Formats: sequence, C-alpha cells, structure tokens
Amino acid sequence: MMKPIIAIDGPAAAGKGTLARRLASTLGLPYLDTGLLYRAVGRRVLDTGGDPADPATAEDAARSLRPEDLDRSDLRGPQADAAAASVASIPNVRAALLAFQRDFAAGNGAVLDGRDIGTVIFPDASAKLFVTASLTERARRRWLELRAKDVDTDIATVEEDMRQRDAKDADRSAAPLREAHDAYRLDTSEMDAETAFQSALVFVRSRIGGV
Ligand code: DC
Repeated sequence: MMKPIIAIDGPAAAGKGTLARRLASTLGLPYLDTGLLYRAVGRRVLDTGGDPADPATAEDAARSLRPEDLDRSDLRGPQADAAAASVASIPNVRAALLAFQRDFAAGNGAVLDGRDIGTVIFPDASAKLFVTASLTERARRRWLELRAKDVDTDIATVEEDMRQRDAKDADRSAAPLREAHDAYRLDTSEMDAETAFQSALVFVRSRIGGV
C-alpha cells in the first residue's frame, strides 16, 4: 500500500512546525520542514558574498544543496529569513528543490510543511491541512520565541517584519502561498497546540484510515 503523504501549508508562525512534527511522530512518518531548504539555499548564497535575489546565483546554490546544509545552526534569524524569502521567489530555485521534496517522501511517505506542498509539490497528497492564525497572534508567538532566546526586539517590529514576509510569500508569481481547495483549514488563533493537534489528527485519520 502507498504510504501517506501529509501536506501542511500556511503562513509563518501559525503553528505548522509543531503540529507537523507531532503528526509525523504519532503516525510514524518522516518529517521535512521545507522552509529549511529555502533557508539553506539563502545561506549558501550569503556564504559566497552573493545576492540572494540574483536568479543565477540562487539557482546554483539550490542545485548544489546537500542534505547536511539543513543541519546548519544559522538558518534562523532576520538575515536568514530575508535571504530565504528572496530565493523562494525565484522559479528556478523552486524547480531545483522540487525533486528533493518528492524524493524525500518516495517510499516511506512523509509529513511535509511549507507554503506550496498541497498546491504544487504534492497536489495528490493523502491529506492537506492549511494552518493559519491572525497576524497579531502569529507576531505575538514569534516575539515570545525571540524573547526566550534573549533577542532584543519589540512586538511592533516583529509584526511589521511578518507582514512584509507574508506579502512576499503571497504576492510572488512563483508558487504563492494559497490554500488548496481540498485542504482542511485550521485557524489556531484561539487554540492551544494540543487542541490544534487533536483536531488535525482526527482529520488526517479520516483521510488515511487508522494508522
Ligand atoms: O517556513 P519558513 O519561515 O521557514 O520559510 C522560509 C521562507 O521560505 C519563507 O519566505 C517562505 C519560503 N517557503 C516557500 O516558499 N515554500 C515552502 N515550501 C517553504 C518555505
């Protein structure tokens, strides 16, 4: 029997990662945070002193991406965020990363989270979730995370950065963030992680059967 592929899309800080990781461990499936691919490509460009917005440089970096690049410790933070958003808007970068994502799920199935998993990478996924939350709530969560890491910032700045990144993800012509027509929408604005997980699990099980 084909192993299930679970696609989880949505904007930044909506709770996708926590949810996806937990679904993967509960269902015994491999997990891929696809945002890390774009972050690692952005980092590779920065390493060489290049411009993440330059299509040829970014495509080279995407084609030479190695799995160990995803383990780098410098894939988070404002510089990595900006570089990732730039490379993610380049069609040839997205094309170069498509096979990596499909190969990852081939054979054993997978839970993948990102922006275009249910719309572009796996349009025939076994179950699709669109996880979202209000901008204010997502900014508050991100600000709490940054504060826990002793990053000195204020909530208004975090919200403005997030608003700009949302616009970049939704307005780009290459695979913009869109809700798949057959996705289950989970708005976590007023839900804790446990409630979101239980609700997602009920939906996923209804699609893939009781694994
Ligand atoms: O989810 P994240 O914040 O780690 O994503 C980093 C950037 O990559 C963000 O600008 C959205 C983009 N991205 C994408 O375009 N497609 C994906 N499947 C995952 C992330």
